[in-house]
Amino acid sequence: MTVSEDNRLNELSAKEWLKFTKTWFIHNPPPRKKDEILHPAKYPEKMIEEFVRFFTKTGGVVFDPFLGTGSTLIACYNSQRNGIGIELQDKYAKIAEERVKKLDSQYQLSEAGGKRLCKQVVIKGDSSQVDKLWKDYSLPQIDFVITSPPYGMMLNKKGLASKERENDGLDTNYSTAQEDLGNSADYEQFLSRLVDIFVKIKPLLKEDAYLVVILQNYMHKGDYVTLAWDFAKEMKKHYQMRGERIWCFHPETLIWTLTGAKKIQEVQINDSVLTHKGTFSKVIKTFKRHYNESLLKITPRALNKEIKCTPEHELLAIQRKFWPNSHAFQPFDQVSSIKPAWIKANRLKVGDILLLPIPKLKEQKIKINLSKFTSKKIVIKDDIFTTQNKGGQTYLPKCISISPEFCRLAGYYISEGHGSPGHALSIASNSKELKEDVVFCFEKIFPGIHLNVTKKEVVCYSRLVSEIFSNMFGSYARDKLIPPFLLTVKPIHLKHLLKGLWAGDGHISNSRAAYKTISEKLANNLVFVLLRFGLVPNIQFSEKHGIQLSFRGKTIAELAAILDRKDIVIDRIKINNQLWRDENYFYLPIRKLKHEHYEGQVYNLMVEPHNSYVTYSFSSHNCQDNKTLYPYGYRYSFVPNVHHHYCLVFKKRRELEISQISP
Ligand SMILES: C[S@@+](CC[C@H](N)C(=O)[O-])C[C@H]1O[C@@H](n2cnc3c(N)ncnc32)[C@H](O)[C@@H]1O
Repeated sequence: MTVSEDNRLNELSAKEWLKFTKTWFIHNPPPRKKDEILHPAKYPEKMIEEFVRFFTKTGGVVFDPFLGTGSTLIACYNSQRNGIGIELQDKYAKIAEERVKKLDSQYQLSEAGGKRLCKQVVIKGDSSQVDKLWKDYSLPQIDFVITSPPYGMMLNKKGLASKERENDGLDTNYSTAQEDLGNSADYEQFLSRLVDIFVKIKPLLKEDAYLVVILQNYMHKGDYVTLAWDFAKEMKKHYQMRGERIWCFHPETLIWTLTGAKKIQEVQINDSVLTHKGTFSKVIKTFKRHYNESLLKITPRALNKEIKCTPEHELLAIQRKFWPNSHAFQPFDQVSSIKPAWIKANRLKVGDILLLPIPKLKEQKIKINLSKFTSKKIVIKDDIFTTQNKGGQTYLPKCISISPEFCRLAGYYISEGHGSPGHALSIASNSKELKEDVVFCFEKIFPGIHLNVTKKEVVCYSRLVSEIFSNMFGSYARDKLIPPFLLTVKPIHLKHLLKGLWAGDGHISNSRAAYKTISEKLANNLVFVLLRFGLVPNIQFSEKHGIQLSFRGKTIAELAAILDRKDIVIDRIKINNQLWRDENYFYLPIRKLKHEHYEGQVYNLMVEPHNSYVTYSFSSHNCQDNKTLYPYGYRYSFVPNVHHHYCLVFKKRRELEISQISP
């Protein structure tokens, strides 16, 4: 091992240092032993050992003010550091002493006669008196503090695995003692008592000492208690903070929001996103971080859109058996009784099923302010507006209500129309029926508007209308879109949008139904509209033909019903082996799973209250962070079933910059 002479922090080689700082790896702790399991919140010593090895050298002094069953001392023993721990409760202090003693004798046996390099000290006491205890025991200055304090009133709270522990006869809280921080009168008192202890520890630390404090945020009576963040904020008044946390999706990942599909990197706080319940909730926090590892690429059947996420990300899914003899997956009717669960992406395989919720929206009565869709200077009088141009002006209603005619006209324009600020608007078609309906819709919305119908198109000469339509729905085939406000309108109106679209670029017959476009934006929001009607199209992308949304079997009949196409009769309904659906979810089997190396930003969202959001084709949990993160990008998964553990890292000396401690 080559250790740089300039490395004042630890004894790691540059390679080991990089591994600790740059690589993400998951800690799967071994099952807890009988005596350790008694304690309600023990942390794995292997994980602590790596922190200890990173922040100290052999023989260094490590302190844990909330020792519990002594994991920190075991970690110190194994890494030959001196450990000191204070624990209030007799029973835990005894367990800690016993564990150290056991190791001690093993050490003597295996290394008989060997020099003991380190000493582990268990002090039964109250850490609020740490300054006094340090004097009484004449203890040395500290190189590194690592601890997980009692989480306020959290452990007394039912839920959080405490019910299970109670049933098993295990402790659900530490004690009823007044000195126990976990029994503080209220949250504020708990926080200030906790920070006070660290303030008292400060003079006992060496100048370059680091502290790692493991805490979590939690839900309490429907409120998200930001303990880790509140603590960090208070600690920053006394120490230099260097903390972070984790995120999970590739920046381009599409998320379903109330305004359609949005790239996760563009999602903002307060955006309403689809949750796994099918309803919409607000984003309360967005996260991003640098990532340099493998991402999983998951492509489900039908929607066919590849989604990239970190392997640890939890997705709502059902695992399916594969029968090699018949070379088949367990059929849908057998799997449908299995309860879906949040499963880590890296535990899924091809054939497993991802759940995509059917969006349920509060129906909205929408009025559109047309005057907002022009960049020209306008004059408004009595709810009528026009441009300030002279001659040939069009007078339009400032606001219009969404109507079947507006939706159909929108559909015709999106499929076959062209408009731009300085020119007339045209909707091309050879169909007499379609052209008649275009005229009917125009006249209903803009009575008296100047139109011209030719063999090939309907032309509206108002440049103002042309500009409004091009700003609402796009100008050219490539930039056409369904605007966000149309996504939330009532289905009885929305079906007219589909009618207009299908009459233009769509196709439906007894055996096939499809819609083609070269606009990705249009395709994405059309998928959203179709999902609202309980339809998942089969999506194909090709360089030559663009994006094709097609339907098979039963769904052709369902689409025909929405489009009022009574002429479409499907006599032989093929079983759809692509996916199935119930009233709440689409069940999409995974078609492809691949790993890909990725270096760049990854993203995650915090969404309340359902703790989930929905990507283009599956539901994702936002609380999969059973990991802790060390500021340079280090992660562990160490307490299953509890989310958001933070290893908050602080430094005594405030002025030293991170660049000064590189290997
Ligand atoms: C989260 S646990 C620590 C678990 C420990 N890291 C382990 O692996 O076992 C917090 C511990 O702090 C102890 N504690 C609470 N208040 C204390 C105080 N004022 N002084 C010392 N210990 C205290 C509790 O009894 C509990 O064992």
